[in-house]
Amino acid sequence: MHIEEDLLTIKNLYTSFRIKDQYHAAIENINLTLKENEILAIVGESGCGKSTLATSIVGLHPKGNTKVEGTITYNETNLVGMKEEKFNKIRGNDIGFIFQDPLAALNPLMRVSDQIAETLLYHTKLNEKQRNQRVRELLNQVGISNPERVAKQYPHQLSGGMRQRIVIAIAIACKPKIMIADEPTTALDVTIQAQILDLLIELQQETNAGIILITHDLGVVAEIADRVAVMYAGQIIELAPVDILFSEPKHPYTRSLLNSIPQTDRENDRLEVIRGMVPTLTKMPHSGCRFAPRIPWITDEAHESAPELHEIKENHFVRCTCWQTFHFEHEEAIH
Ligand SMILES: Nc1ncnc2c1ncn2[C@@H]1O[C@H](COP(=O)(O)OP(=O)(O)O)[C@@H](O)[C@H]1O
Ligand code: SF4
Ligand SMILES: [Mg+2]
Repeated sequence: MHIEEDLLTIKNLYTSFRIKDQYHAAIENINLTLKENEILAIVGESGCGKSTLATSIVGLHPKGNTKVEGTITYNETNLVGMKEEKFNKIRGNDIGFIFQDPLAALNPLMRVSDQIAETLLYHTKLNEKQRNQRVRELLNQVGISNPERVAKQYPHQLSGGMRQRIVIAIAIACKPKIMIADEPTTALDVTIQAQILDLLIELQQETNAGIILITHDLGVVAEIADRVAVMYAGQIIELAPVDILFSEPKHPYTRSLLNSIPQTDRENDRLEVIRGMVPTLTKMPHSGCRFAPRIPWITDEAHESAPELHEIKENHFVRCTCWQTFHFEHEEAIH
């Protein structure tokens, strides 16, 4: 049997932003491993720290007012704090990235063919003719039906879906081992979303790359992810293989998220969804469980004092032991 290799190992990762004179952690003590050939989905409400995690991995977090601590090991090297020159050789070559807004990722003043070719020029030894050939090949691969015409265009002349295909072409140009995709389809309409995701999976199957896919679309997660990490207020609160997460969610937050998916065949029409908001960085509670304020009907004594990620079953981690007695507001208490 082929043993899948760990591609990326994240240990004790903290990323903090300076607000006024203080640093506030947007992600805290993240521990994750990405394996070859796997799609690891990261889910959670807006403001949970998903994008901060993505930009920290590829070293594209805002510089200056940001502090990144911990280790992200790729190929036996720590990416945290790596010098920009060295990181530039890895980013785009070994690690591809696709972010939500393709327009921001592209240079408005450059033809798309030149932007793809630029990556090849930087990372490969291909000559001009070979590069041009590879650009055509990539445009075909990402499903652009008239590559000759599109190659000569500028980003603003293309639709959102086409632009995202160009970003993907750049991301895969050097056959990266790892792809980080942060809500790659959020800005696109539904049919294009499905096409882009199919494209990503197809490309992944060719290269065995590991993908970290950030999305708020749980339908997509159920369909394509192998494992899922659920984030809340900068922390991973549940981590499990996808089938386990959907069939046996344990953390109250995960249960609430799953309840928020509309379903027509639900027996009980009362949807138990937890109301409230993710705390902002300056309001983040630093002791006790960050989720406690959103479930005030659970008594203080019932909460774990400083919940850690516990492995409750093989490969299933939950940041809380109180899930065993947790109940939604309208359900009866379990004793
Ligand atoms: N550059 C920044 N400076 C200060 N705070 C930031 C910065 N970027 C993100 N944040 C804050 O960090 C938290 C996590 O944000 P983000 O990673 O974008 O979450 P998500 O992608 O899950 O929506 C939010 O409270 C956000 O306001
Ligand atoms: S410690 Fe309390 S608030 Fe935190 S997850 Fe467990 S039950 Fe929920
Ligand atoms: Mg985000």
